[in-house]
Amino acid sequence: MKRTRVEVLEALGLWPRWRLRAPAASAEPVSASAEPSLASTRGEPAADAVDARAAEIARMDWTQLEQSVAGCSACPLIERRNQTVFGVGDRNAEWLFVGEGPGAEEDARGEPFVGQAGKLLDNMLAAIGLKRGQNVYIANIVKCRPPGNRTPQLSEAQQCEPYLRRQIELMRPRLLVALGKTAAVNLLGRDAAIASLRGKVHEYRGIPLIVTYHPAYLLRSLPEKAKAWEDLCFAVATFQGLPSRVSAPT
Ligand code: URA
Repeated sequence: MKRTRVEVLEALGLWPRWRLRAPAASAEPVSASAEPSLASTRGEPAADAVDARAAEIARMDWTQLEQSVAGCSACPLIERRNQTVFGVGDRNAEWLFVGEGPGAEEDARGEPFVGQAGKLLDNMLAAIGLKRGQNVYIANIVKCRPPGNRTPQLSEAQQCEPYLRRQIELMRPRLLVALGKTAAVNLLGRDAAIASLRGKVHEYRGIPLIVTYHPAYLLRSLPEKAKAWEDLCFAVATFQGLPSRVSAPT
């Protein structure tokens, strides 16, 4: 019998069953128009409220999306974040790089990949003739910093997923590059070792997806840089073989 994604994740021990709570008392008030409500009478989100929130996000334009993210209180990451980190770059980019979540510097500055890992990412982009902001967009699986830079929990990633999905719909990149396991696993919706995902063209909602190591991991594991270089060359070759965009983005 075919199992649902949640059932598979439960079987893998990856479903923490975190329940949504009301935002912390100190949290900024959330604009009703910008942030869809998840409240239900029993303090837990009803499934239809979750669907309604996702449906509302799916109709947003860039401005509404940015406002909604800035006011988001859908998961506990609101409690320790300084600011949300929406994403940066060319909103018509053909290349989208997706990392895990903001670190301390990103949380302070509101831009993804601005710390040491970001410098390495910029160098990786330069090595294949790309530049942050020029035909490149950079985003993360979660838009708020997980405390201590821990890996985002599945529940946190799931609350953020409609935002990234909408960014991708609006941008319509030609190629997605997942930076590290968290990005890969969340975009693909299944658990796998990064070694088994490299060197293949996967798909996210019809868009080709390539997996490589996270720059922060490469800073700690210099020998793997050669493999990341192979992945980038593979990404370029894949990109060059793609059909061009049919029409202008919405
Ligand atoms: N690591 C990430 O995954 N994203 C960032 O924005 C910064 C570091």
